[in-house]
Amino acid sequence: MKKTTLIAGAISALAAALAFIAKSKQKPAASEAVRAARYRQPRRVLIAGATSAIAQEAAKEFAADGDKLFLIARNAEKLQVVADDLRVRGAAQVETAVLDLTDTDRHAATLDQAAEALDGLDIALIAHGTLSDQAACQQSYALTEQEMRTNFLSVVSLVTLLANRFEAERRGTIAVISSVAGDRGRKSNYVYGAAKAGVTAFLSGVRGRLADAGVTVITIKPGMVDTPMTAHLEKGALFASAESVGQGVYRAIITGREVVYLPRFWWVIMTVIRHVPEFIFKKLNF
Ligand SMILES: NC(=O)c1ccc[n+]([C@@H]2O[C@H](COP(=O)([O-])OP(=O)(O)OC[C@H]3O[C@@H](n4cnc5c(N)ncnc54)[C@H](OP(=O)(O)O)[C@@H]3O)[C@@H](O)[C@H]2O)c1
Repeated sequence: MKKTTLIAGAISALAAALAFIAKSKQKPAASEAVRAARYRQPRRVLIAGATSAIAQEAAKEFAADGDKLFLIARNAEKLQVVADDLRVRGAAQVETAVLDLTDTDRHAATLDQAAEALDGLDIALIAHGTLSDQAACQQSYALTEQEMRTNFLSVVSLVTLLANRFEAERRGTIAVISSVAGDRGRKSNYVYGAAKAGVTAFLSGVRGRLADAGVTVITIKPGMVDTPMTAHLEKGALFASAESVGQGVYRAIITGREVVYLPRFWWVIMTVIRHVPEFIFKKLNF
């Protein structure tokens, strides 16, 4: 058997074992004590990409806490359904804005609108994204650029504006959903992975810049999650539910953990993957 096949097999076996252990130890939703931590309530929460399955699950937790929400998404109909659901679930206030988030010229005005509607902002969760078609991107720089605009540059624009706002106020939390895909470029997924690597590095720098300003910057790195984004993929043992990952996002935000793998076992998998020597890694088929 080829050495690379053995290594890929060993990584898959490790990943499956970790996924099994993690699932058998799955935690219930955040406890009341954790819920009460960190912010006076109702918290004022902005969510960009609010129709994302993961973001919706995190938003349900904030709604259950009676928080105020400002939701941004590009699809007005889906946004309306999500907003109505969160009102029923107990949110103190739910406001919405319809925006394609690649339209960075409108970011500043939309954030001002959110701060005005909620009488300030405490927390911003950035969740939008697209799983790039790697084969199509390889044939088209225009498509690759579009994917970078969606998954990287639009995030850079939002985080720049939010960082300056929160720095001036000397408070606040910026949480962004990056991905384990950003930890190492794989041949099957490197356009999306490069965009997420950019997000992760950008957030790391912003976190350092704002460390003394009392602003928390959170990088969330989910592994594979069963959402509309991955609807076309075959689901294996490594897939987590949107519900468990969304609750993990909420917990990270209210506890202020700065870099979070969801589920946590992905930290082990990615530590192994990051350390595979390049001459072997380039031959692995994943
Ligand atoms: N699912 C996974 O396996 C996985 C793993 C790691 C990281 N992530 C990340 O998790 C985040 C949430 O994804 P998800 O899994 O919850 O998938 P999802 O349900 O498909 O959500 C993606 C969301 O991004 C929105 N979006 C895409 N481009 C946009 C744009 N230009 N302007 C405004 N909204 C836009 C989509 O809006 P529409 O509904 O209008 O299309 C959708 O609501 C993404 O950042 C994703 O990269 C996902």
